[in-house]
Amino acid sequence: MDPEACTACAECAKVCPVVKPDEYQMGLSSRKAIYIPYPQAVPCSYILNMEDCLGTNPIACGKCTEVCEPDCINYDDHDRIVTRDVGAVIVAIGADVYDPTEMDEYGYTRFDNVITSMEFERLICAGGPTLGHFVRPGDQERPKRIGFIQCVGSRNPAIGRPYCSNICCMNTIKDTLLLADHYPDVECTVFYQDIRAVGKSFEDMFQRSKEAGTRYIRGLPGDIEENPENGNLTLIAENTTSGQIERHEFDMVILSVGVGPPKDLAKVSSLLTLSKTSDGFFMESHPKLKPVDAPTRGVFFAGFCESPKDIKDSVCQAGAAASRAVALLNAGEVHIEAITSVIDADACKKCGVCASVCPYSAITWKKGEVAVVIDAACAGCGNCGAACKFDAITMRHFTDAQYTAQIRAILAEDPQDKVFVFACNWCSYSGADMAGISRMHYPVSNRVVRTMCSARVSEEMVLEAFRCGAPIVLVSGCHYADCHYISANRQTVQRVQRLWNKLEKAGVRPQRLQLEWISAAEGAKFAKVMAQMEELRKTVTMEEIEQAKAALKPKPKKPKKEKEPAAVAG
Ligand code: FES
Repeated sequence: MDPEACTACAECAKVCPVVKPDEYQMGLSSRKAIYIPYPQAVPCSYILNMEDCLGTNPIACGKCTEVCEPDCINYDDHDRIVTRDVGAVIVAIGADVYDPTEMDEYGYTRFDNVITSMEFERLICAGGPTLGHFVRPGDQERPKRIGFIQCVGSRNPAIGRPYCSNICCMNTIKDTLLLADHYPDVECTVFYQDIRAVGKSFEDMFQRSKEAGTRYIRGLPGDIEENPENGNLTLIAENTTSGQIERHEFDMVILSVGVGPPKDLAKVSSLLTLSKTSDGFFMESHPKLKPVDAPTRGVFFAGFCESPKDIKDSVCQAGAAASRAVALLNAGEVHIEAITSVIDADACKKCGVCASVCPYSAITWKKGEVAVVIDAACAGCGNCGAACKFDAITMRHFTDAQYTAQIRAILAEDPQDKVFVFACNWCSYSGADMAGISRMHYPVSNRVVRTMCSARVSEEMVLEAFRCGAPIVLVSGCHYADCHYISANRQTVQRVQRLWNKLEKAGVRPQRLQLEWISAAEGAKFAKVMAQMEELRKTVTMEEIEQAKAALKPKPKKPKKEKEPAAVAG
């Protein structure tokens, strides 16, 4: 199709013999194989859906080309991959609404007059399939009694999604007000488990809905029955306020469906190396400090793909994402913190382990080649430095030598009285701060060393602490899904598990190495964990400490082969 030449005269659609459900109208009306996707489409030109079209073989059809005066239909046109150089990417791929087909108790597939909230939106829209005439699908009669069921596909770990979809309560309240305004004789009843009217003027809207006559019944229906004679529906629900099982008859039932991550999310995620939260939405770089930034630099989020949110919040986030992108593009140069990793090409054994553990894909590596760090992409978590067995990676300002010096200095005197703590910068270290500024009491035996991420703590750093006589070593970091460096602390878990095995083999009690997740807000947890560590420390005997020192002695390294001095010319 040539969108510039198309005059939207509609002659092509008139002769097209194909009839398909119109996706935009939620399947409540039909479209042709050649159509305008929705009334406000820009450009306002027809598109030809080649999956539906018969005309790829003009002998089969080709009717639209015969009537198209501007001659803008080209069957040989095909999808093209367009390449663009960009400095920033804003991901705004939206969400998908929940399909209630699996909730058979609500009869969505069995009863014509059970529809979803999205279908209801189309039904009452002036540009909808009935041109705004509000009728029920079963018999085209105007419904007088409408039942809304909330949380369909939300807040239910067994069916649908475990989280609150955020928008459904206010959408229903808006619909009841709209119906009260346009059709005052319609009675609305809402079945809910909680009404979440959080937001500016939302509580006021909720009260107005009740004043307009909408009944709110606390309790979700367990079943719907249809009267086959008139298509009316009976909802059977436990009213949890009265404790009674009630039956209510309606002309139409609207399922207030939740929203979920879009189906293309995985594709975009692997394209831009983004990670997901446990709910399946994109994970932001930091929920408080960088709420629109993706962990991958130069990528920003707007709207639903990051989490369910209403229009106002989506607009706010889109504005913030655009501002962040413009700031980046106008900066002229990229500033990075001087904590990135550096690879020693001579020491690198070309194994590629560093590239495989980097959560940002900031290290490129090909088989048989030295790994290379992309400075602009490296966030400085130190995971690669901890993973490299050949001392080939140095973390700027957080070097192995600096950590070794700190460990030895801290444990130089009376190590048996100390609990040695590695705390990640973003959570556990801040949790310690929180405990301090909240004046919480906890034992003074701990000695905290800060790492950017718990994944920076290498096996060697832990072993060195034991060699220096530490009775207890604690590795602490952000909660599992909250690591500031995407998923780096998953490597922490693997590393600690390997260490537990190593300690056991060496005859060292594995409990002497502890792993804890403490968030920045959990000052109380930090204090509690320190008290537990102190109790544990008291159980470690001097014999155990000495035995560990001897058992964990490093094996002597093979002397490096001296390189032949380069020949001097002349
Ligand atoms: Fe805290 Fe990774 S940043 S564990």
